[in-house]
Amino acid sequence: MPSKVNVGIIGAGRIGKLHAEHLAHRIPQARVLAVSDIVLNAAQQCAATCNIPTATQDHRVIMDNPDIEAVVICSSTDTHAHLIEEAAAAGKHIFCEKPIDFDLARIDRALTAVDTAGVKLQIGFNRRFDPNFKRVHDMIQEGRIGEPQLLHIISRDPSPPPIAYVKVSGGMFLDMTIHDFDMARYLTGCEVQSIYAAGGVKVDPAIGEAGDIDTAIITLHFDNGVLGTIDNSRQAVYGYDQRVEVFGSGGSVRADNVYPNTAVVSNAQTVYRDLPLNFFMERYIDSYIAEMVTFIECVQRDQSPPVIGIDGRVPVVMGKAAQKSYQEGRPVALCEIEKK
Ligand SMILES: NC(=O)c1ccc[n+]([C@@H]2O[C@H](COP(=O)([O-])OP(=O)(O)OC[C@H]3O[C@@H](n4cnc5c(N)ncnc54)[C@H](O)[C@@H]3O)[C@@H](O)[C@H]2O)c1
Repeated sequence: MPSKVNVGIIGAGRIGKLHAEHLAHRIPQARVLAVSDIVLNAAQQCAATCNIPTATQDHRVIMDNPDIEAVVICSSTDTHAHLIEEAAAAGKHIFCEKPIDFDLARIDRALTAVDTAGVKLQIGFNRRFDPNFKRVHDMIQEGRIGEPQLLHIISRDPSPPPIAYVKVSGGMFLDMTIHDFDMARYLTGCEVQSIYAAGGVKVDPAIGEAGDIDTAIITLHFDNGVLGTIDNSRQAVYGYDQRVEVFGSGGSVRADNVYPNTAVVSNAQTVYRDLPLNFFMERYIDSYIAEMVTFIECVQRDQSPPVIGIDGRVPVVMGKAAQKSYQEGRPVALCEIEKK
């Protein structure tokens, strides 16, 4: 039996609390020794709920603890890159929430620090661990649909985030579509060459006034000739709409929404059922547990994580290409973003 992995969690907000609960209560291979948050009360509340012995305002308490082998970075996006560098310098393995950063030079510095230190880095693209999307991926890999030709991703939120969040989110392509960019790479196993994005403000004019969009269609041209679309909305009135389909020379495979139950009512007027699971905390709960189990096992078994630094970097390049495409009204090759 490999020994337990001692973990420190940085950031005890929405996603930090979720990971803390999983690590503390559902992942027996892990032991959380400390949690930090610049808001001490947030760290203390998280520590109390999850029986974590140390709560601190200073993440260096985690970095300096020689018993902690791995850190889970769940703080605000603008802190990720330097925390990765600090953790790598301290010799800790790293799980970091997406995105690493919005700035490619900062991402590159962080990834270099990881390589230099020889530590593991897993990026929090949890949807790869969703059992439905993983099955789609595996079917494609097994050749069940022949050669993939078309990819469709529908990804619509139940309601938009607060305007204060929109203003600092990096824009819809980097905040929301980034998960879909990762899914596109994961499902096809291929890189995107160019992107054409059309977008608009259909949900809330305040989102437009904040300089963002809330509705988009993104066309992807892959290196191997596969064509893809991503369809995003910040508001689907029937709830969280998360579907994929891949069509190939030998068939197609798709995954539909997930519902809280299988009950379907049929009567003289209509057939109906309950709405899909409402948002990511419900819809993707299994995937958050599975990604963290995978990270802990990779540390225990000295294996490379399945979602590494480059997987964190490429979707940021794709998001920037989509932004440029939307602004300039033309397809943008990813190499144009790299050249800057
Ligand atoms: N994978 C996913 O599905 C998913 C979902 C939600 C959020 N996220 C990502 O997780 C990150 C956090 O998002 P959130 O929704 O939990 O935000 P949040 O605002 O709820 O929580 C962030 C927490 O980090 C703390 N913090 C900020 N700087 C810190 C520092 N230097 N040290 C310690 N704590 C610090 C804040 O006080 C806050 O409590 C973001 O990067 C976001 O993109 C990923």
